[in-house]
Amino acid sequence: MQISNFEKYVFPPEQMAYIKQLKSLTRRIYGDNPKACVVTYGCQQNVSDSEHYKGMLSLMGFEFINEPSQADFILYNTCAVRGHAEDRVYGNIGVVKNYKRKRENIILAVCGCMAQQSHVAERIRKSYPYVDIVFGTQLQHRLPEFLYKRLSGGGRIFELSLENKEIVEDIPISRDGELKGWLPIMYGCNNFCTYCIVPYVRGRERSRHPVKILAEAREMVKAGFKDITLLGQNVNSYGKGCDFNMDFADLIREINNIEGDFRIRFMTSHPKDCTLKLLDAMRDCEKVAHHLHLPFQSGSDRILKQMNRHYDRKTYLELIEAARERIPDISITSDIIVGFPGETYDDFKETLSLVEKVRFSSLFTFIYSPREGTPASVMDDPISREEKGKWFNELLALQDKIAKENSKSFIGKTFRVLCDDYGKAPGIMSGHTSGNCSVEFEADKNMLGEFLDIEITDYTNMLSGKIVK
Ligand code: 5AD
Ligand code: SF4
Repeated sequence: MQISNFEKYVFPPEQMAYIKQLKSLTRRIYGDNPKACVVTYGCQQNVSDSEHYKGMLSLMGFEFINEPSQADFILYNTCAVRGHAEDRVYGNIGVVKNYKRKRENIILAVCGCMAQQSHVAERIRKSYPYVDIVFGTQLQHRLPEFLYKRLSGGGRIFELSLENKEIVEDIPISRDGELKGWLPIMYGCNNFCTYCIVPYVRGRERSRHPVKILAEAREMVKAGFKDITLLGQNVNSYGKGCDFNMDFADLIREINNIEGDFRIRFMTSHPKDCTLKLLDAMRDCEKVAHHLHLPFQSGSDRILKQMNRHYDRKTYLELIEAARERIPDISITSDIIVGFPGETYDDFKETLSLVEKVRFSSLFTFIYSPREGTPASVMDDPISREEKGKWFNELLALQDKIAKENSKSFIGKTFRVLCDDYGKAPGIMSGHTSGNCSVEFEADKNMLGEFLDIEITDYTNMLSGKIVK
């Protein structure tokens, strides 16, 4: 799709007008300190979306609390990638019924990937009549309108259109952190991996204009952010089909040129689109972290075909080799699905052997979860959940052994660490290496936000080290 005249796609003035009206309306209904609780499930994209919801809500005058039972407005920002997360949401929505019995003015809204599915919206409509607002993943900017209409006496709202129009820019934002921040560069996905619900609930791939991304990155650096993660379902296809001439490798070079001491991370990369041009850019850009999250999902070529992944084991391994040639200390992480329909133990052994070969820094491992409407959900799936659980544990045990060996090999080495959190005791701080390994060390709390050279001295359950002068 083409994105031209990006200036047009600013936060709509009518939504700003609703925000202004809500400022007095919420006070009339809830008193001087209206309280909102935003609960986020799932991936970093959802976390980032919630920062925009909070941005709009805080302009309306809401304070934020973590306890839904005390809130005047509750927003569940949901995930649909696996069934487990959906079950939790239904459970949590159910509980709100009791809060509403005591305080009928509470507004309950459900948004995000789970809400976008029509069968879910239908279930909420019929079985959860006390849910006030349900809205889809591309209508984020219309939260003020929905809330205003419902609070001023309108009926329940179900708005789920997914039209893949241009991205709405400049939605107010209230970021959760002060050092580490998310920066979405694109939305949606075009890949249709056969197990995945994302393309159906987030729509087609749409890239933000580089002018907008660079302006936001500059603002974040100016505000003191030291670790910026560029977000997209498949960042390597950034810019495809757009009327600006910039791919992902070009984009990170541009961000690297922004003045300041900060780190650039990105996720997620699809192996089929991960180019040598990108690996070269990673090598050349001193601000880009030495970390590549490159999900391979399965080590078996037969299963990769069934998953519609468009690469094979051999090309994946070649990519890893190319990354390590350029950046010898790169830390590589991945996502793996265990028990895809039709996967045999022999296929699974291919996954184990790939894990052994690559020696990932860490892994995100999932047991396959059927998602309604995806091609894999109607494939034959003869292996029992119990059997898949055994395979899964075998994979965890192998990765645990590798991660421990990797960590022990760091002892005696020095890493540049961003001191990004308080440790578990006074005088202890923690931080992350460029490869995203977590380290604890003795330091004063005013070192928060500094890059420090830390020599690793020990590993028990976690790396620990000391500051080297
Ligand atoms: N079942 C299990 N895991 C899944 N993922 C995506 N869809 C499913 C599913 N249906 C995993 C993939 C993806 C990660 C974000 O979630 O590994 O990379
Ligand atoms: Fe899902 Fe595949 Fe897109 Fe990732 S690349 S969001 S796994 S369809």
